Amino acid sequence: MTQKIIAKYPSNIALVKYWGKYGNQMPCNASLSMTLSKAYTEIILQCTPKTTSKIELDYFFEGQPKENFKERIIKYASQQKEFTTLLHNFSLRIDSTNSFPHSTGIASSASAFAAIAAALLKASSQINDVDFTKEASRLARLGSGSACRSFYGSYALWGKVENIENSSNEYAIPITDIHTNFHNMKDAILIVEDSPKKVSSSVGHALMNNHPYANARFIDANKNCATMISVLKSGDVENFIAITEREALTLHAMMMMSKDYYMLMKPETVFIIEQIFNFRSETKLPICFTLDAGPNIHVLYPEQIEQTVKSFIEQNLQTKLKSVIYDHAGLGGEVN
Ligand code: PMV
Repeated sequence: MTQKIIAKYPSNIALVKYWGKYGNQMPCNASLSMTLSKAYTEIILQCTPKTTSKIELDYFFEGQPKENFKERIIKYASQQKEFTTLLHNFSLRIDSTNSFPHSTGIASSASAFAAIAAALLKASSQINDVDFTKEASRLARLGSGSACRSFYGSYALWGKVENIENSSNEYAIPITDIHTNFHNMKDAILIVEDSPKKVSSSVGHALMNNHPYANARFIDANKNCATMISVLKSGDVENFIAITEREALTLHAMMMMSKDYYMLMKPETVFIIEQIFNFRSETKLPICFTLDAGPNIHVLYPEQIEQTVKSFIEQNLQTKLKSVIYDHAGLGGEVN
């Protein structure tokens, strides 16, 4: 009989960035993210008993077979001892869809690997709910580092931070007791370019090895995580903005200072950042930006100023945009 498991997990946007790794997907510094809601991956995993010893796994993305990602999943799954029995005894079929449109340039590996790890773990084990999330977060990290943060809402920390109990390089933990100033945060994702990025995150992470500024960066990021946790609990909007924006620019500065330097920001990116600076200084409203490893901009703001920010985007930025995804902080995913 075929067993069917459905997993739906969101993407997340880092406020303090993970950039640099070692060993088996261990982060060189801690990172802290806001979990998203509307940008998610949903997968259906079907497990049918088989008798051959050969691994049988098929992967379909929006109905079409995707050979390269299938190979990546097979490699990933066969390296985790937790999935050995499942791969040995069952033929697997994964059907995956993303809620966000094709070619938006939004990284889908975080939501995809969160969903894949959760579904494979669910199919493999009987562990209780508390341990399940921690274990799924750890296994997701081994597929794509940032995926481990998609298990908790609205804010998650991945990486060991001094004085933060239970923080770990192996999996993410939720940040609790968030001040109301940071409840229901909005994220307008401004797409200025929708083609795949020229330099992959893996190459970017590797360029932090022997980077002349690497150690200073790792120390700074860990400090920013500790400060950001206090900021989220105390409601300090000014420092939330300062840390978030400086982190985004630091990530891109690291790329530009690598041995094989490169630049992912586009003229539109810089134009929009300047518009946000001007808008904030004129209106004194608590709006800020962050960037992923790409040219697109995440605009973060509280629910109360949603209409004003939407008008600002429509009136001042629309001509530079391919599309906008209006997302907001979410609570994590689910698997059944
Ligand atoms: O999880 P990866 O290996 O795709 O790396 C993600 C890196 C950034 O998105 C740039 C930062 C982060 O912490 O998510």
